Amino acid sequence: MRILAIETSCDETAAAVVEGRRVLSHAIYSQILIHKKWGGVVPSLAKRAHEERIDMVIDEALLRSRISTHNFLTPLEPPRDVRRPRAIREAQSRKKLASSILTSIDFVAVTYGPGLAIALEVGISKAKELARKHNKKLIAVNHMEGHIYANFAQNSKDKPKRELKFPSLVLLVSGGHTELVLWKGELEFEILGETVDDAAGEALDKAAKLLGLGYPGGPVIEQLANQVSFVDIYKFPRPMIGSKDLNFSFSGLKTSFYYFLKKKSQSEVNKNIKELASSFQEAVFDSLLTKLEKAMRETGVTRVVVGGGVISNQRLRALLRSLAKKHKGEVIFPPQKYLCTDNAAMIGVAASFKAKHGIFVKNFDKLDRIPRLRLG
Ligand code: KG4
Ligand code: ZN
Repeated sequence: MRILAIETSCDETAAAVVEGRRVLSHAIYSQILIHKKWGGVVPSLAKRAHEERIDMVIDEALLRSRISTHNFLTPLEPPRDVRRPRAIREAQSRKKLASSILTSIDFVAVTYGPGLAIALEVGISKAKELARKHNKKLIAVNHMEGHIYANFAQNSKDKPKRELKFPSLVLLVSGGHTELVLWKGELEFEILGETVDDAAGEALDKAAKLLGLGYPGGPVIEQLANQVSFVDIYKFPRPMIGSKDLNFSFSGLKTSFYYFLKKKSQSEVNKNIKELASSFQEAVFDSLLTKLEKAMRETGVTRVVVGGGVISNQRLRALLRSLAKKHKGEVIFPPQKYLCTDNAAMIGVAASFKAKHGIFVKNFDKLDRIPRLRLG
C-alpha cells in the first residue's frame, strides 16, 4: 500500500512516498530564506512559493522512492537555473518518469489543516488534481496528527521498531500549536489542554525578534542558551502555570519580556543576550513541563509522545527525559530531526493508519481545509 503524501500547511513545500510506516522517500523545499527578511511567514509569499515548487517537490519524492536503499534523505537543494535548454529537457524527462512512478502509487494523501489557509489550498488542490487524473483514492490528514504519527515513521529497514501503546499522552509544540492530548487508540484523540493565546514556538520566535535575532527564532535562542551556565537568571513570568486546567498561555510572558527589554539599553541587551535567551526559553519550557506533569498525575499515564518543531530543542528534550524518569515513564521523540519540523513523511504515515481504517475522502468537491484543530 503506497501513499504519496503532500504537505503545504505553512512554509515548507513537502512530499513523501510511504509504504505503511516505512518512509520510501521524502523531499522538502524550505521557504525559510524567503520569509527570513520579513521576520516571519508572509502568507501570500508562502502561497506563491508552494505553487512554484510543488510539482518539482512531488516529482523529486516520486523519483527518490525508486532508490531502494533510501534512508531518511536530506532536504532538497535549490534547483539549478530552470531556463536553460538542458535543464528544461532534464525536467521534462524527470516529469515523465515521475508520472510513470505515480501509477504504482495506491493513494494520495494531503494535509487539510490546521495551517495557513492559502498555503493549505495549494496542496489540497494539487492532491485532488492528481487523485482525479490518476484515479486514486484521497486521504485527508490533520497536520497535528501527522506530528504525532511522525514518531512511528520507519526507515527502509523498518527501524526504529516502536509499538503504538494506548493510552499515551502527547505534547505537541510547534510554531502554530501547543497541545496536550490523550491518545486513546489509533486515530482516537482527546485534547486535554491547549494554548489560550500564542503557541510556544511563536513565543520563541517573537522573543528572538525582540532581541533582533531573526527568524525562525527557536534554533537561534537555543544556540545562545546553550552557552550559559545559569539557565534562568531573569526568572520571567510563567502565566497560567498554577491554573487548575491543562491549558497554556505565553502572551503575558512575551509582553513582560518586551517591557523588560524596553527598560534596558541596547548595549545591556547585547551584553546579556545569552542569559536573556536562556531565561526566556526556560520560562516557556517550565510552562510546558508543569502542565505535562499535571496531566501525567491526573491521568496516571506516563508514556509521553512528543512532536512539533520546538521538540528539536536539546534542552527541552533533556527536561522531558528527566520528567519521564521521575515518573518511571518514557518519552518518545521523532526518530529523525526532520520529523520534528514540518514534513510530508509524517502525513504519509498518519495517512497509512487512515487507509488501514478505510477512511478516505468521499466527495472530492466537498474536501475543504479545516480551520482549527480537530483530531480524529
Ligand atoms: O512544527 P513546525 O516546523 O511548524 C509548525 O507547524 O508551526 O515548528 C516551527 C517552530 C518555530 O516556531 C521554530 O522557532 C521552532 O519550531 N523551532 C525550535 C527549534 N527548531 C524549530 N524551537 C526551539 N528550539 C529549536 N531547536
Ligand atoms: Zn507543524
